[in-house]
Amino acid sequence: MRIQGAVALVTGANRGLGRAFASALLDSGARTVYAGVRDPSSVTDPRLFPVRLDVTDPGQVAAAAAQCGDVGILINNAGAMRASPFIGAPTTDGARNEMEVNYFGMLSLCREFAPVLERNGGGAIVNMLSAASWVTPTATGSYAASKAAAWSLTNGVRVELHSQGTLVIAVHAGFIDTEMAARVHVAKLDPDDVARLTMAAIESGTEEVLADDETRAIKAALPTALETLYPPIQAHWDERHPRRSS
Ligand SMILES: NC(=O)c1ccc[n+]([C@@H]2O[C@H](COP(=O)([O-])OP(=O)(O)OC[C@H]3O[C@@H](n4cnc5c(N)ncnc54)[C@H](OP(=O)(O)O)[C@@H]3O)[C@@H](O)[C@H]2O)c1
Repeated sequence: MRIQGAVALVTGANRGLGRAFASALLDSGARTVYAGVRDPSSVTDPRLFPVRLDVTDPGQVAAAAAQCGDVGILINNAGAMRASPFIGAPTTDGARNEMEVNYFGMLSLCREFAPVLERNGGGAIVNMLSAASWVTPTATGSYAASKAAAWSLTNGVRVELHSQGTLVIAVHAGFIDTEMAARVHVAKLDPDDVARLTMAAIESGTEEVLADDETRAIKAALPTALETLYPPIQAHWDERHPRRSS
């Protein structure tokens, strides 16, 4: 679909990748970009229209859909990463929060905005996923589970909304240079590059964006994941958590 003249809503548009998505939409000619954020005062770009939106609050999601009835592009970008392994985390609070934001938040946005998009001619939904949709880096295990759930949701929503002409795009990426990945010291993607690839996918009608070589390699390795992807993950984990002698 064409971005020129379109109206978009980006969740979590106040910082990180969400801010890059919002700028890229405007640079591509979007007419209006709503910034769906928990704290409207955190939106510093005067070109954006802040909308109070905690994606875990069903009332706020419904209100946003009512307020932003002209939206043709929904970018589900808001995300939480609580660095919680499945067993090693002290409680399951982090895992629940990640599911609430990354899965249930995305689900309620898709549900509330599906009729809005239909009324506006079909439009597009972009769901920000991760290479972790397909592999479980153990230190962030429950985050990976929430992204796997969100990937499944994305595939189902695409099928359900096909007949109303809604393009549903999954964006998968490795580490991106934002606050979420601040503690990781490896090469990271520039958020503007991920946003540019995503704009191109919207324009060309491409349903999946694989933003980097590592993500492409992980997807390609899925049939042999246990033999290829997990031995290095296990070695890395064992190095940091040596076996206690009895
Ligand atoms: N960074 C990476 O390495 C990486 C890699 C692959 C995929 N991703 C995904 O990319 C997306 C953007 O992440 P990022 O890297 O930009 O992370 P970030 O810098 O931590 O930003 C997260 C954004 O999500 C918002 N958010 C969190 N919980 C929310 C809620 N309940 N309601 C509304 N907004 C909420 C935050 O708003 P506040 O300012 O209010 O906290 C912030 O705008 C996420 O879906 C993430 O999982 C990131």
